[in-house]
Amino acid sequence: MQGIIRNSVSMSRHILNHHIKPGDLAIDATCGRGQDTLFLARLVGKTGRVFAFDIQGQAIHSTYCLVRKQGWLDVVVMIKDDHSNMADHLSGNTPKACVFNLGYMPEGDHDIITTPHSTISALKNSLDILAADGVVSLVFYTGHPGGQEEYEAINDYVSGLSQSKFTVLKLEFINQINSPPGLILIHKFSEDKR
Ligand SMILES: C[S@@+](CC[C@H](N)C(=O)[O-])C[C@H]1O[C@@H](n2cnc3c(N)ncnc32)[C@H](O)[C@@H]1O
Repeated sequence: MQGIIRNSVSMSRHILNHHIKPGDLAIDATCGRGQDTLFLARLVGKTGRVFAFDIQGQAIHSTYCLVRKQGWLDVVVMIKDDHSNMADHLSGNTPKACVFNLGYMPEGDHDIITTPHSTISALKNSLDILAADGVVSLVFYTGHPGGQEEYEAINDYVSGLSQSKFTVLKLEFINQINSPPGLILIHKFSEDKR
């Protein structure tokens, strides 16, 4: 149990692990160094598909190298584009999960960060195209410049989502120092729960 509730990424992965099945389609909206893409590829398996987005060529290259090394290149489609354009690349296919790990790339340029405008736009798009019973996971960071504003924009937006269509959960680690990342999970119902 200690491993699961250690941090927001481990909590997110625990939920995704129960939710994503072999053959599913999943989106990594911010692939960075590729760790989340690799995690999703292992969950969807050889019959599934992962679409991995990032605006940085360096991130796409890192992700490519990692998934190739681990033997998952045939499952992953890497796309260098803003995640707010994700629907343009999916040809009408509906993802079972969409994962956002916000902020800047690990060991990358700290000035290239996710921003409220594109994050909210991508989040809206992901909820539109998400399969019924699908999940969106957002790991958010408030410790870097711009992070608090992005979190507040997300929080405002998800707080207003209809409870007849979505369940929204927020997790924060309230006894840790140095602004630990938090987690927002959104579950899309199979049908309206009016
Ligand atoms: C915290 S990192 C992601 C970490 C990554 N999932 C991993 O496993 O290493 C955030 C990433 O978001 C990317 N990013 C920033 N704005 C973006 C946008 N509008 N569309 C897609 N990716 C974006 C950054 O380039 C950066 O690589």
